[in-house]
Amino acid sequence: MQLNPYSGAYLSDPAATWRRILDDPGRALYAEDLGLWLISRHADVRRALADATTFGNALTLAPVYEVCPAAMSVVTQIDAPPTTAAADPPVHPRTRRALRATFANTAERAEAEYGRIVRRRVEDLVSRLVAQQGRRVDLVREFTTELPLLVILDILGVPDADVDRIRRWADGQVALIWGQPDPDEQVRLARGLLEFWRYCQDLVRQRLDSGVDGDDFISRALTYRDDDDDVLTVTEVASLAFNLLVAGHETTAGLLAHALDAALSSPHRWRALVDDPRSVPAFVAETLRFAPAIDGWLRVTRRDVTLGEVTIPAGARCLLMIGAANRDPLVFARPDRFDPYRTDAADHLSFGHGPHFCIGAALARLEAGIALTQLAAAIPGLRLSPEHRRSFTPNVSFRAHDALLATIDIHAPADVPEATPAAPAPAQAA
Ligand code: HEM
Repeated sequence: MQLNPYSGAYLSDPAATWRRILDDPGRALYAEDLGLWLISRHADVRRALADATTFGNALTLAPVYEVCPAAMSVVTQIDAPPTTAAADPPVHPRTRRALRATFANTAERAEAEYGRIVRRRVEDLVSRLVAQQGRRVDLVREFTTELPLLVILDILGVPDADVDRIRRWADGQVALIWGQPDPDEQVRLARGLLEFWRYCQDLVRQRLDSGVDGDDFISRALTYRDDDDDVLTVTEVASLAFNLLVAGHETTAGLLAHALDAALSSPHRWRALVDDPRSVPAFVAETLRFAPAIDGWLRVTRRDVTLGEVTIPAGARCLLMIGAANRDPLVFARPDRFDPYRTDAADHLSFGHGPHFCIGAALARLEAGIALTQLAAAIPGLRLSPEHRRSFTPNVSFRAHDALLATIDIHAPADVPEATPAAPAPAQAA
């Protein structure tokens, strides 16, 4: 079959394609144009995410197209050792232990360690929006991509002055790996990525030179390492920072934009959040299910794998279609309906599953919860501008809004009908 993530129907609205693939009797379909096997059913995607012996991660961060030789010669200079999404056993269990020890990955730890940072950044960004009362703003540029980037810089102890170049490098990495850049662009993006890697190595070197006594992630990882390369090498600390600076914001930026898009597309939904902040966690969970920021994630088969009638050969790259799995009718009632009151949203696979389960899931939920609550409280009349048209950046994995044009109105509109008065109590966040 053909799947074009870079233009046309799938790019503008993937739901119909997900439905068609889910309805196909084949449990794995080969997308010839992409050279990827598509796995879409919830049970199959879940199993592939969990089974590191059969579905490896070695190529998860490798470009999905044949990189031109000039760009490849730059890419090969990026000697960052795999530590997270691209690491397989025996390295991954060791680096994952290090991450769990140094990065707050439960709701309680994230609130205790990052709550203050997130609230401060949200307050700052929201008050900048409030100051634009009556104007049209792009929420993607002024809020959804800003917040997670500033938060992850704070957590890693990176100066605000570097925000623009980190944004450029991180966006470039997403485009280089999962986009469709032409050869000149590949070279430019690859050079940026190499610079980014050297920057991360410098960050770690500076911490070592200045004495490791801070509470930022890099200092914590160096302390955890305790000069023992069997625990973690200095280069692996730099590689963790390299990964977190991208994973920590490109994804949560997507979640925030999808949540605001879903909320503002219907005045009733936004009004429900304004009227009842307790409904925010369930709204975030349903956003994660319905519109995952990463809707396809890569694995490579380490042996022949048979799914139903189809055998995927060893060494094949597979696209685990998280977006489709989250709409599987065997798991979700009325899957194509956005319903913040559903009770099955928690079964989504948007943060992955198993040994590589997203280490930042708790932080992402914390950011989205605080952001939506404070935005709804401060700008109850926020609404999409009439000229807003939904469009996404072409990419195999990341579904990111190009823009979210909205009008700032700090006054609650008088004519919006009361929101779902009989709505059931919000479900626990997924
Ligand atoms: C809505 C926001 C986010 C989404 C949708 C998301 C999604 C994902 C997915 C799909 C995976 C792969 C899981 C697997 O292979 O089973 C993953 C892994 C990962 N995520 Fe997230 N993520 C988000 C936020 C974050 C944040 C805020 C951070 C860090 C600050 C982060 C750091 C990571 C890391 C380090 C991994 C690799 C973990 C490993 O391989 O052990 N993510 N994430």
